[in-house]
Amino acid sequence: MSAELKSHVRWHEQQVTTQMRSGVMRQKGACIWFTGLSGSGKSTLANALDVALHEAGKKTYLLDGDNIRHGLCRDLGMSEAERSENIRRAGETAKLMVDAGLVVLCAFISPYCRDRERVRALFEPAQFVEVYVSTPLDQCEQRDPKGLYSKARQGLISSFTGLDSPYEAPSAPDFIIDTSAEHLQVSVHRLLHFCGELIG
Ligand code: ADX
Repeated sequence: MSAELKSHVRWHEQQVTTQMRSGVMRQKGACIWFTGLSGSGKSTLANALDVALHEAGKKTYLLDGDNIRHGLCRDLGMSEAERSENIRRAGETAKLMVDAGLVVLCAFISPYCRDRERVRALFEPAQFVEVYVSTPLDQCEQRDPKGLYSKARQGLISSFTGLDSPYEAPSAPDFIIDTSAEHLQVSVHRLLHFCGELIG
């Protein structure tokens, strides 16, 4: 926003508060943010948790990097600045949905600590959970579900996370899951227990 526009745009207080929405929804909104390499299992985990929460009667929504890049972020590439903007938009979208009372599951590589911290800062501490999907690079590359590591190794994709583009692991995540070492249902059970206390 330009400085001139900023001085003409004012924040409007809303009469229906987040707390009032939570009361009607019978749950507290929260953002569960999954970060990790491509192929680490973020989407699979987020989907499985989404199903479990949905079956428990919770109101949820899933924001997945690959899908969001087909719409809201279709104009963005994979440079550092574009990834930052991708995460900023995803975080702001999640924030609106949490304000509306939803439990929002977000699965994005989100490789930069700075961007993830900026998203965390949008929420109250009890509204945000960072899940580091720590599956090692060699496992992700072995799985290569979309054939992208192979293409990147052949030089057909540049700036590929973990190869020629950085991934900054979280220093203090709320949760760590290595999907090559733990069964999906065990991870979901652990997450469900943890999230249950936040969501109510
Ligand atoms: S992020 O880095 O901006 O958080 P995001 O999660 O939205 O990434 O999208 C990642 C998806 O884009 C991957 O799952 C993969 O399918 C695809 N992709 C395409 N190019 C790249 C690349 N250079 N690095 C990583 N993932 C890529």
